[in-house]
Amino acid sequence: MANFSSPASAASLSEAELSDLEKRGEYLAAAGNCMSCHTNDDDGPFAGGLEFETPFGTIVSTNITPDPETGIGQWSLEEFANAMRHGEAPDGTHLYPVFPYTSFAKVSDEDIAAIHAYLKTVTPINIVPPENDLGFPYSQRWTLGLWKAMYHDDSPFQPQPERSAEWNRGAYLVEGLGHCSMCHTPRGFLGANDSDLAMTGGTYMTRVEGKLSAWSAPNLTSADNGLAMWTVDDVTDYLKLGVSHRAGVFGPMNEVVVNSTRHLSREDVRAIAVYLKSLPANSRDSGEPATADVLRAGSIQYDIHCGSCHLPTGEGSPEQGPPLIGSPVVLDVDPASLINITLYGAQTPLSSPSDEWASRAWIRMEPFDTILDDEQVAALLSFIRATWGHEAGAVTPEQVAQQR
Ligand code: HEC
Ligand code: HEC
Ligand code: HEC
Repeated sequence: MANFSSPASAASLSEAELSDLEKRGEYLAAAGNCMSCHTNDDDGPFAGGLEFETPFGTIVSTNITPDPETGIGQWSLEEFANAMRHGEAPDGTHLYPVFPYTSFAKVSDEDIAAIHAYLKTVTPINIVPPENDLGFPYSQRWTLGLWKAMYHDDSPFQPQPERSAEWNRGAYLVEGLGHCSMCHTPRGFLGANDSDLAMTGGTYMTRVEGKLSAWSAPNLTSADNGLAMWTVDDVTDYLKLGVSHRAGVFGPMNEVVVNSTRHLSREDVRAIAVYLKSLPANSRDSGEPATADVLRAGSIQYDIHCGSCHLPTGEGSPEQGPPLIGSPVVLDVDPASLINITLYGAQTPLSSPSDEWASRAWIRMEPFDTILDDEQVAALLSFIRATWGHEAGAVTPEQVAQQR
């Protein structure tokens, strides 16, 4: 997920030549965003070779085209399902959970069969991606067996009969193919998701313009630093169109929206929004606000550099820019993405997610990395986290320096 672009079509067959099952699989593969992780800049759709930086080293995605030699062309449906749910290759080797089988375990038999059928129709590419580069003991795949025994819950999705069909559809998509928790849930010991803090925000490492940096994925529960101020329509528009009254897409979400959620039906995206909006408020503590002196300095910087677009009240406007009041990015416990957008500007998608996105009137947010030093950025961001009723902790100059 490096370049925020949208890869070319993968089809070797035209849309009309696909069976209903294969078309369904194409839709579900978009819901699972197989494309973003299994496509690098050079080798073609689904040929793998994209590098993922983890605290344990570099893991490279595999070739999932139907090439019989280097891809998964010879895999039976059972073997494919076993990889999707249990993270196990046909020869019994364990796969790294960067491949989000911890979420895909929730995907139904029918949906896995449809994805398998679709992947057989894409253009086969004969290429072996580079090796992983992991330190000992993480390079030892057998240790993943122990990890799975402790942390991998492969129980199937359990619908909740007292909830609506729409809510259940949303839960199935978010917890299963959508794998939102991969980035939006914090990781505890050995990279396992911390389930008590599910969807309260996590960290994701990716390269932006060649530089590896941390991005925080904000709280998606109904907490004040989460989606409290977003309506179901706001969430739906953001995921379907790439823009809503609350925010426009930038950063790592570009790939999620461009390659995945915008391809889903409005009903499915709405179901995702309904489910997210039902998540009870939950958050970690984000620490103390900055001192009054720092906040005063930050408020001056804000008026000079940000107030023209986000307005002095932080309310934003349809012409100028989105509101910062109640923004999950502004209020995130981990301010990494807030610092990134301030230093590097809004890195918006290279290809437009929708007509609405393309015709939005907002003026592009430019980078401030050469305009403001670490202390100024820290004061400014500490200010917007502590004004307009906000109660998020201070940003330190050290945190800003780390994101440079
Ligand atoms: C977040 C990134 C990510 C997403 C999303 C993702 N994958 Fe993967 N996948 C990987 C990585 C990385 C590996 C390699 C894991 C390893 O080597 O242990 C992998 C491995 C696999 C494998 C094992 C292949 C082999 O040769 O061993 C299959 C099959 C697979 N993915 C299918 C899919 C499908 C189908 C989807 C979409 C529904 C998908 N993946 C979505 C990152 C991803
Ligand atoms: C690859 C990691 C990743 C995945 C997967 C992911 N997100 Fe995000 N998300 C982020 C990051 C990082 C941010 C903050 C920066 C940005 O907007 O890109 C974010 C921001 C958001 C925001 C707030 C946007 C704003 O500007 O205030 C929403 C809403 C959101 N994600 C919803 C989702 C949903 C729903 C899913 C699953 C369908 C999902 N995300 C999957 C990484 C991810
Ligand atoms: C020229 C107008 C402009 C200026 C000046 C500006 N921004 Fe922005 N800002 C935008 C636009 C437009 C977006 C929406 C980006 C997109 O389309 O994805 C945005 C998005 C944001 C977001 C993401 C909110 C969310 O939830 O997604 C934050 C945070 C932000 N700006 C902070 C700042 C800060 C801090 C400053 C001052 C240092 C600033 N902006 C200056 C126009 C501006």
